[in-house]
Amino acid sequence: MAKILLTGGCGYIGSHTAVELINAGRDVVIADDLSNSDKSVIDRIEMITGKRPDLYVSDLKDKKECEKIFDENDISAVIHFAGYKAVGESVLSPLKYYRNNLDSTLSLLESMRSHLCNTIIFSSSATVYGTDGVVPYTESAETGGCSNPYGWTKFMIERIICDTVLANPDMSAVNLRYFNPIGAHESGLIGENPSGIPNNLMPYITQVASGIRDHLNIYGNDYDTPDGTGVRDYIHVVDLAKGHLAALEYAEKHKGTECINLGTGVGYSVLDVVNAFNEANHLDLPYVFAKRREGDLASYYANPKKAYELLGWKAEKTLVDMCKDSWRWQVYLKNSENKDGGK
Ligand code: NAD
Ligand code: UD1
Repeated sequence: MAKILLTGGCGYIGSHTAVELINAGRDVVIADDLSNSDKSVIDRIEMITGKRPDLYVSDLKDKKECEKIFDENDISAVIHFAGYKAVGESVLSPLKYYRNNLDSTLSLLESMRSHLCNTIIFSSSATVYGTDGVVPYTESAETGGCSNPYGWTKFMIERIICDTVLANPDMSAVNLRYFNPIGAHESGLIGENPSGIPNNLMPYITQVASGIRDHLNIYGNDYDTPDGTGVRDYIHVVDLAKGHLAALEYAEKHKGTECINLGTGVGYSVLDVVNAFNEANHLDLPYVFAKRREGDLASYYANPKKAYELLGWKAEKTLVDMCKDSWRWQVYLKNSENKDGGK
C-alpha cells in the first residue's frame, strides 16, 4: 500500500495525526530528526493504535536523507510538520529558523518531484495573517506583515508550495493555517511536552497545576475584550489531527493549492481558559495579572467556514475537553518522570 509520509511526525501535532491516519487505515511512515521530540512516541502511537509506524531519524535539510526515504518507500502524499516553532527563539536566531524551515521544505519538495509524489499538506499558521488583520480571519484576508522570523518562514513556505504547484499542475497542496492547538489524546499517552519554560498558555497552566511553577502570569487585563484578557481560538489537537485527514482526502481528489483555516471560530479569553481548567479538573489555579506581552494581539479567531465547505470538517471538542485532556497528559508526564527517577 502506498504510504503517507509525516515529516516531524514525532512532534505534538504530528503524533496525533499519525494516530488518526492509522485509525483510518492509512500506512504511515515518519521522518523526524528528534530535535524537539523523543522516539518513545512511536511506542505510544503503537499502544494507542495497535500499529507501529516506521521511523526514519533524519534531518530533512539533508537532501540525501530525504531521497533515501522516498527511494525506500512508495510515498503517495506528505504531511509536512517538520520545523522549528518557537517564536521568541526565532527572533534571537533568525538564520537557524530560515535555514531549518526553508531548507527542509526545499529538500522535501525536490524529492517529491523526483519521485512523482504529488500531494502535500503543510502546517502553516494563523500567524501568516500578520498583525493588522480583521477578525475573524478568512483565508482571503491579506497575509504578510508577520511580527517574527518564525511567522515569515510560514509565509514563505506557503509561497514556495504555491509556486511549485503552479509550475506542476499534476500537484495538489493544502496549506493548513492552525489557530491555537491545545489538549492531548484522550488516552493520556501523547501530548505536548515543551522543553524549558513554556511560552504558550496551556502548557504553562498545566505546569502550574502540577506544582512545577508557582502561578500563571496573565499577560494584560486591559485589552479591548469582554474581560480585558487576550482572546484566542483554541482548538483541540485531536480535532486538528482529524482536519489533516480531511485535507489529505480532499487533496487526493483535487489539483492546485488551497489555504484553509483550522480553528473553531470561537474566541475564549485567558480567564475563560483558567476558569474552564479549574472547573474541568476541580482545581484552583493561582494567577496574577502581569503587563502585556510584547507582540500579542488583543483578539484573534478563525472564520472556519471554508474548512467545512471544502473538507466537510469542523471542530467537535469543547474547551472543557481540551482542559481535561491537557491535564490528564500532564499527570501522565509527572508519573512517568517519577517512575524514571526524575529523568
Ligand atoms: P513540534 O516541535 O512538536 O513538532 C515538530 C517536529 O519536527 C519535532 O518532532 C522536531 O523534532 C521535528 N523537526 C524539526 N526540524 C526538523 C528537520 N529539519 N528534520 C526532521 N525533523 C525536524 O511542533 P508541533 O507543535 O507539533 O508543530 C508542528 C508544525 O505545526 C510545525 O511546523 C509548527 O510550526 C506548526 N504549527 C504549530 C502550532 C502550535 O501551536 N503547536 C501552531 C501553528 C503552526
Ligand atoms: C503564540 C505565538 C504564535 C504561534 C502560537 C503557537 C506569540 C506572540 N505568538 O500565539 O505566533 O503560532 O503561539 O501556538 O508568541 N498568555 C498568558 N500567560 C502565559 C502565556 C500566554 O496570559 O503564560 C496569554 C497570551 O497573552 C495570549 C494567550 O494567553 O493572550 C495565548 O497565548 P499563547 O498560547 O502563547 O498563544 P498566542 O500568543 O496566540
